[in-house]
Amino acid sequence: MQFTGITIGIPREIMPGERRVAAVPETISKMIAAGADVLVETGAGNGAYIDDDSYRDKGAEIISDPIELYKRSNLVIKVKEPRYHEKLGKHEAELLQQDSILIGFLHPAHSVNHAGLKILAERNITSFTLDGIPRISKAQQMDALTSMSTVAGYKAVIFAAGHLGRFIPMMPTSFGIIQPAQFLVIGTGVAGLQSIATAKRLGAKVKTLDIRPDANEQARSLGAENIEFNIPKEVAVGTGGYARRLDEEWYARERDAIAPHIAQSDAVILTALIPGEVAPRLIDEQMVSTMKKGSVIVDIAVDQGGNCTLTCCGEDYEYNGIIISGIMNIPATLPVDATNMFAQNAWHFISYLVQEGKVNTDIDDDIVHPTLVTTGKRIVHHGALMAMGIE
Ligand code: NAI
Repeated sequence: MQFTGITIGIPREIMPGERRVAAVPETISKMIAAGADVLVETGAGNGAYIDDDSYRDKGAEIISDPIELYKRSNLVIKVKEPRYHEKLGKHEAELLQQDSILIGFLHPAHSVNHAGLKILAERNITSFTLDGIPRISKAQQMDALTSMSTVAGYKAVIFAAGHLGRFIPMMPTSFGIIQPAQFLVIGTGVAGLQSIATAKRLGAKVKTLDIRPDANEQARSLGAENIEFNIPKEVAVGTGGYARRLDEEWYARERDAIAPHIAQSDAVILTALIPGEVAPRLIDEQMVSTMKKGSVIVDIAVDQGGNCTLTCCGEDYEYNGIIISGIMNIPATLPVDATNMFAQNAWHFISYLVQEGKVNTDIDDDIVHPTLVTTGKRIVHHGALMAMGIE
């Protein structure tokens, strides 16, 4: 059978605020039907309102000791990258069995994860990052990034709405009309488009900027107004239709294009990313200082370093009357739907990777290549190596 000889471990996530879990009872059933043994850590599903019995009923073994779970698993699926386990006094990368497989959002380009990647490589752990799944039709069902971007784009607007000191829709009152709030969405890929749709449903006026012409067209089709920024397509768009890293001169021009609009915005949603690399810095302190007090910036790009120079990783704070949200891991704040989506994507990914009990690490495979992070005791991920200054 496909998963014979494979023990899949589903640990409880330890990142503060992380409420998702990497498997749901339905995906556990599929793993077991395909021949895997499945271990789930006690309480792993609590944050997403899935109790241990729901997993047990589908045939999983519930393990209270995470050390035992890691020791017995040869394929671990996690939502988030391994990190230092305070309770155990060890890094999760050290808990994984030598020569085992790890799958999750490893965010390998982000410098905070580089120490963890080195441990994975030293221990000969083959790791795959779900943020590298390519946008090709055969990988659509594995595309956890799209799923989580959908959640993040929606929730960022809900967060902004909750913190804005004003109404979002146009509001008729007995003493006149209150004008709708102005939103600015930078980056209109999956997350940005979902932000536009959500903000429009709430009645906001929305302006947007992306460097890809297709993304601008999609934003317009949702009723947003594009900010004018004339960048040649060949400069902005690279292989596979993705945005490219620009040189600093282009970023300076882009900041100039954004500046007059940010000053008029009540809420700014930042989602600009370059796949597998650190996020471009598009908003600086001077630009933020022109914004109205009581406005809000939500920097969704924070997991890859952020688009605003003032964003504090993992924190929401007030800067001169403007709330800047660097809340990491926004999808964890919508745990039920985010878990369901993630678990389905992870299941489709492992069922692609594993054949007859063996995991595909063929670097020429178009899904393996962009997702493989460590193998054969080496870090092989291009974005990670670039961020480390090695490539
Ligand atoms: P992403 O999350 O990597 O980036 C978000 C957005 O930031 C992108 O639209 C990008 O163009 C933009 N961006 C990058 N640098 C920027 C800059 N300097 N200024 C302003 N915006 C900037 O992108 P996402 O959402 O992952 O989508 C990337 C592509 O993949 C899109 O073409 C999308 O349509 C496509 N896609 C295809 C899917 C499929 O075929 N299965 C599924 C999902 C997305």
